[in-house]
Amino acid sequence: MDVYLNGRYLPLDRACVPVLDRGFLFGDGVYEVIPAYGGHPFRVDAHLERLENSLRAIRMPFPLTRSEWRRIFHRLLSPLGAADQQIYLQVTRGAYEKRLHALPERVEPTVFVMAQPLAERDPRLVARGLSVITLEDIRWQRCDIKAITLLANILAQQQARDAGADEALLVREGRVTEGTASNFFLVRDGRILTPPKSAHLLPGITRDLVMELAREAGLPCEEREIAAEALAEADEIWVTSSTKEVMPVTRLDGRPVANGRPGPMWREMDALYQRCKARLRARDRSSEACDE
Ligand code: PDD
Repeated sequence: MDVYLNGRYLPLDRACVPVLDRGFLFGDGVYEVIPAYGGHPFRVDAHLERLENSLRAIRMPFPLTRSEWRRIFHRLLSPLGAADQQIYLQVTRGAYEKRLHALPERVEPTVFVMAQPLAERDPRLVARGLSVITLEDIRWQRCDIKAITLLANILAQQQARDAGADEALLVREGRVTEGTASNFFLVRDGRILTPPKSAHLLPGITRDLVMELAREAGLPCEEREIAAEALAEADEIWVTSSTKEVMPVTRLDGRPVANGRPGPMWREMDALYQRCKARLRARDRSSEACDE
């Protein structure tokens, strides 16, 4: 399998970066995860826009244009057929001659892209729903940047696993922000609620799509701060991400959410989401305009 590194396509085991790369030394970089269905990257413009926002926030120029990114995705996906893939891309500030906290004046960014198989969600897990725990959100104040620096997320995810759960919902100053690698939705009295975008959560591409689909389908939805206490009163809880899609949460801190089964609003939203994927899959694979 070939990957892209700094302008070249080469086998994964030959793709190397210098040890002085600031991504390696400082976690000085940003990334994206983009699903591809039937050879087509999903919501690629939204992902590239978020990448540009992340780069701007960490004071890095854009290393490639959107059409150059698209060409790389196309080239990596083409030999892989129609099987679902996830594109991982990472941009770091690059390797400088010494370890220096301040931004070096001249440094070439490191740009890495690979495509890896995206497994279908486990149907048993979808039918059972996820088990989540709540944890204090100990992350920094710029969670809107998709930074590769993910230690707090990793530790929280592991704490969830240690507790026999699948994911953790993070709570900052009494309000739920998001999951360790997902956004968060709550359904109450037929209304779909999610916290508004802020520096405390990643503006998820799946989150935006869910809001868009809800509006199109006439389902009441609203961005609203959600207190941790409201979790106990939820009719449904969902988490969303490019790889999880829309997943129902059926256990929270060891107790069932409502009746402990995936709810009817989730079923409706999941069907809308699957329809979106199917539309993208059905497109001609040779087409460049392969986006939803
Ligand atoms: N993570 N919040 C966090 C902290 C995330 O890491 C992610 C996704 C999301 C959902 O964003 P999106 O819908 O754009 O995938 C929210 C990716 C999948 C990852 O780190 O692998």
